[in-house]
Amino acid sequence: MRRKVIAGNWKMNMTPSEAVKLVNDLKANVANTAVDVVFCVPAIDIVPVVEAAKGTNICVGAENMYIEEKGAYTGEISPNMLVDAGVSHVIIGHSERRQYFKEDDEFLNKKVKKAIEHKLIPIICCGETLEQREEGVTLTFVKGQIKAAYEGVSAADALNTIVAYEPIWAIGTGKVATTEQAEEVCASIRKDLEEIYDADTASKIRILYGGSVNGSNAAELFAQENIDGGLVGGASLKPEFANIVNY
Ligand code: G3P
Repeated sequence: MRRKVIAGNWKMNMTPSEAVKLVNDLKANVANTAVDVVFCVPAIDIVPVVEAAKGTNICVGAENMYIEEKGAYTGEISPNMLVDAGVSHVIIGHSERRQYFKEDDEFLNKKVKKAIEHKLIPIICCGETLEQREEGVTLTFVKGQIKAAYEGVSAADALNTIVAYEPIWAIGTGKVATTEQAEEVCASIRKDLEEIYDADTASKIRILYGGSVNGSNAAELFAQENIDGGLVGGASLKPEFANIVNY
C-alpha cells in the first residue's frame, strides 16, 4: 500500500508573515502522521516556513528550481540552495510554468535529474488541456510527458519521485475531474511507468491528482486505486486544507 501524499501548492500567494501565520494556524490540524504532508511555498517564504514547521510533520517543498548549482542566472534558485534551506520536495513542470515560462519537456527532464542528484523529491506535473481531452488524446499526451520527464532516470531514482496528474481544465476552475476521469489517467500513468521500468517500480511511485481538490471531493478521489493523494492549490491556503489532509 502506497503512503498517501497531501501537498499544497501555494503558487504566488502569502507574504512571509502571512505564510508563518498560515503554518501556525494549520499545523495542529494537519498533524496526520499517516500521510506525507507537504507545503510547497514561494521561494521567499521557504526559510520562515521551514522555521515555523520545525517540530511538526510538515515537509516544505519549493515550487520550482533551476538546473544549475550556481552562476549568472539572475532570479533563479538552485537545488543546493533549496536543500540548505531545509526543503525536501520540489514541484517540477507545473502547467503554469509550461504555459507562462515556456518550460518544455527536455528542460523539465533536466530539472528532474538535477533534483534527484540533490536528493530532492520531485513532484512531476503532467496533464492535458480541455481541447486535448475533447480530442480524445489525453492518455497519449500525458504518456509523452511522463516518458520525457523520466528519460535517463534509473528505476531506483524513480522510486524517490512523485507524479501529479493535473488536468489543466480543472486547475483553479472549480471543475474537478470526475473520479472516473482522474482514476483512468492515473492508472494509465502507472502503466506508462511500468513500460518505462517494471511493475514493481511502477507500483511504488505515488501518483497524485490535482485540480480543484477540496474538502468535499478529496476522500472519494484518494480512495481510488491509482490515486495516492493530491496536489492542492486554492484550498491549501485555507483552514479547509486540514479537511483534505484528514480526508
Ligand atoms: O498544483 C496544484 C494546482 O494546480 C491546483 O490548483 O486551485 O485547482 O487546487 P487548484
